[in-house]
Amino acid sequence: MRYALISDIHANLPALRAVLRDIAGRPIDVTYHLGDLVGYAPWPNETVALLAEAGVPGISGNYDSTVGTNYKHCGCKYEDPRQEEQSHLSFEWTKAHTSAEVKRHLAALPFRLDLKPLGGHATGPTVILVHGTPTLNTLYWTEDRPDSFCLKMAELAGAKPGDVIAFGHTHKPWHREVSGILFVNTGSVGRPKDGDWRAGYVILDVETTARVEIVRVEYDVEEAMRGIRASALPADFAEYLRTGGK
Ligand SMILES: [Fe+2]
Repeated sequence: MRYALISDIHANLPALRAVLRDIAGRPIDVTYHLGDLVGYAPWPNETVALLAEAGVPGISGNYDSTVGTNYKHCGCKYEDPRQEEQSHLSFEWTKAHTSAEVKRHLAALPFRLDLKPLGGHATGPTVILVHGTPTLNTLYWTEDRPDSFCLKMAELAGAKPGDVIAFGHTHKPWHREVSGILFVNTGSVGRPKDGDWRAGYVILDVETTARVEIVRVEYDVEEAMRGIRASALPADFAEYLRTGGK
């Protein structure tokens, strides 16, 4: 079974289109999203509509659950006061421009999905999809987290050797195996933070052992930048896309 795992699209419609096109050109069995469909770019409703049209199921990110429930903040982490102010503007803009129907959809997304690549009738690996961690969608699971953190999360998730836990939220892709469990951060489709502007996603190939490929796709970043500048979203978000968060 070959999965495409796409996360943190953040309403960047040009990036999502390019990634879905790339996936369509490969031998992928099924695509799942790992949440954070909206926020930071001006196409929240269109992003949700395109995923529905493409038949891509998935789980709830912190941005989805907080916009969907009209919560007071997005549960995001800020590095400085300017970022905090802009993040707040983005959240308010997104709540104001996401339709009631799309909000209901966002609020109804599941927190976690378990996949059985060999079928639920056979023993074999489980692929667990969460947005941040198995306990909270707001907790950042960065590459520098120690092995002990990964194993704690695996225990909380009920994962065993041979299983895979995939997540996003940090917008920086990485993967490593600890005690036979594969941990995969899928990176971000619409707002990478690793200095590479291209849209990112992961192909997970699960046979008897799992293999990860991190994919980067060029897209029309100028179109996304124009869309941001034409909206009331902070113009800095456009530059952020061009530099990959640097
Ligand atoms: Fe995100």
